[in-house]
Amino acid sequence: MIEAFPRSGGELCAEGVSLERIANTVGTPVYVYSASAIDAAYDAFDAAFAAVPHTICYAIKANMNLAVVRQLVERGAGIDVTSGGELFRALRAGGDPSRFVYSGVGKTDSEISDALAAGIKQFNVESRAELRRIDAVAGSRDVVAPIAFRVNPDVDPQTHPYISTGLKTSKFGIPIGEATIAYAEAKALEHVRVVGVDCHIGSQLTKVQPFADALEKVRDLVGELRDAGHVMEIIDVGGGLGVTYDDEVPPDAQQYADAVIAAVGDLDCEIVLEPGRSLLANAGVFVTRVLFEKQNEAKNFVVVDGAMSDLIRPALYDAYQRVEPVGQPRGGRNLVDVVGGVCESGDFLARERELPDLERGDLLAVRSAGAYGFAMASNYNGRRRAAEVMVRGDRFRVVRERETYQDTIRGEETPGEWIE
Ligand code: LLP
Repeated sequence: MIEAFPRSGGELCAEGVSLERIANTVGTPVYVYSASAIDAAYDAFDAAFAAVPHTICYAIKANMNLAVVRQLVERGAGIDVTSGGELFRALRAGGDPSRFVYSGVGKTDSEISDALAAGIKQFNVESRAELRRIDAVAGSRDVVAPIAFRVNPDVDPQTHPYISTGLKTSKFGIPIGEATIAYAEAKALEHVRVVGVDCHIGSQLTKVQPFADALEKVRDLVGELRDAGHVMEIIDVGGGLGVTYDDEVPPDAQQYADAVIAAVGDLDCEIVLEPGRSLLANAGVFVTRVLFEKQNEAKNFVVVDGAMSDLIRPALYDAYQRVEPVGQPRGGRNLVDVVGGVCESGDFLARERELPDLERGDLLAVRSAGAYGFAMASNYNGRRRAAEVMVRGDRFRVVRERETYQDTIRGEETPGEWIE
């Protein structure tokens, strides 16, 4: 596997391009992605499942930049969308809708309608109420919607509570114990067609056992449903494979595939996969520039031009992402918090980290920022969202321009005329 962000002559690079050069050309803060790393991660996933019929439906929520999505589509990926906006992007990026699955607990009628118009592969249905809406909307279009229920197996994925989805307390899916009733209801409807079953238990899983436990339950369910006369062609095993941010040792793609195939590989089904983070996280860094250093009685702060509005994972999940100087590290060891300029104490990119001496103007790279980085960025505090850059080999290009202030007020009006 290539080193996506090597140090060359002491300087941190993205493939063959120095991050300092990108920062000086494009400005900061900036997200930088390695095209080769994305390819490599996709290929590893694809190869790991070579023994079974499978479709990799990239979870576009992880990074929805059109260049990223287009690259994966060209590599052969289908897409997992969770909203009309993601469907729009997936189509805009050239994705083949017959390889799209649509997950999510809150699909609106118009989103369902758009997905039907596009001709997606499968709706992952998260409640019986939603099933009835899909049937109604498909009926109004005089089509039949391919569906799978997302079943909740009540397995603890052993990850952060905000990204655990397979517990019985979670809003996602239908309890696996109610699946037979739900499938019976689906069978009686005219405008839905059952194609399989879906299960996604959470994100950033660092062990295979929860996947195996969940799929054991899915396996039993597939047997029961077949006995009841349902067609089970597809098992969607969701996403969730974790990555190394710090010292985690998650299963690699092959170990994950082995566990999936051991559980459900002999059921004569197509396996649908929805990886997001595992394809993108370590293919991206977030580069930010030091503005100031300040101390108080208790702490040393490094204030940078990136903030929680650019990268919210540390603030939202207390997530750890490695931070390192882009240039040749200076000497010294200082315990610092790397913070942004947003008016919240929760605005930090890293806390209590040991970093070498830094000066105003130095660049820092926040690692593992390719997934759920830019995708979760906002304009909070009136900040412009960062630029995004793709690197391949010794070339780079801007794949999303930094927003302008004008961009940030698009569509806003001071009320001149009120609507009555
Ligand atoms: N499929 C479904 C139905 C999902 O809800 C998700 C992620 C995925 C696939 C992709 O999971 P992945 O392979 O990326 O783990 N913002 C959080 C992660 C939220 C994950 C939401 N769902 C974070 O930054 O850690």
